[in-house]
Amino acid sequence: MLLDLPDKCGGADKSAEVFLLLVIKSSPVNYDRREVLRKTWAKERLHNGVWIRRIFLSGTSDSGFEKERLNKLLELEQREYSDILQWDFSDTFYNLTLKQILFLEWMERNCPNVRFLLNGDDDVFANTDNMVEYLQSLKDNDGSKHLFTGHLIQYVGPIRSSGSKYFVPVQVQKSDSYPPYCGGGGFLLSGYTALVIYNMSQSIDLLPIDDVYMGMCLAKAGLGPTSHIGVKTAEYMILI
Ligand SMILES: *[C@@H]1O[C@H](CO)[C@@H](O)[C@H](O)[C@H]1NC(C)=O
Ligand SMILES: *[C@@H]1O[C@H](CO)[C@@H](O)[C@H](O)[C@H]1NC(C)=O
Repeated sequence: MLLDLPDKCGGADKSAEVFLLLVIKSSPVNYDRREVLRKTWAKERLHNGVWIRRIFLSGTSDSGFEKERLNKLLELEQREYSDILQWDFSDTFYNLTLKQILFLEWMERNCPNVRFLLNGDDDVFANTDNMVEYLQSLKDNDGSKHLFTGHLIQYVGPIRSSGSKYFVPVQVQKSDSYPPYCGGGGFLLSGYTALVIYNMSQSIDLLPIDDVYMGMCLAKAGLGPTSHIGVKTAEYMILI
């Protein structure tokens, strides 16, 4: 780990005070996107009496001098905003599952009692006020029950053409079908479900498509994702 935030949730014991943790995958070069999100939908704040907190997840980019330069810049950003977790692995599309699991491991240690999480990308729009109100309106709104909702994708399988961004060869996954999952642009889950997924990930080989992998972990736990009409990740937007 290169950049850590052990006190982001006020320590493991106090982490129940965080109602919605925004967990946003962002590579080192996306400084401009982070800057916009900090001022808009990912602002840390009290809304409707509950806390919203923000974390960006980053790996490293480039190599040699350029990698060190980008790491230095991220360190400066961290000094200013205290909202970045960074690990020393190459921040590429096929490493997003690794990023996801490293986050869940970090969460189990530092924010195990967070109520809900919005897990997503830095190129989406999310109406986080509405999300808080939606989550507060649920019958079980303390994060201790299963919740995993977003843009539901079902009845699809690995893309076998090597030119595709989502190419997965049979050597990596034999099965021609994926379990139901939610598009990785953004989905909501409870703290409970996040920890269940982390537990399941201990015994499932990493599949390099992060959102599908979450679906695999859910399936292994006998749980499933649900569809929320407000989430549209295929059109690059989350609306809830
Ligand atoms: C993932 O990160 C590791 C460690 O930096 C790197 O060796 C590997 O090439 C990366 N994998 C992909 C698919 O980019
Ligand atoms: C995850 O696994 C740990 C250790 O086996 C267990 O104590 C914990 O209850 C599990 N958490 C969930 C949410 O299943």
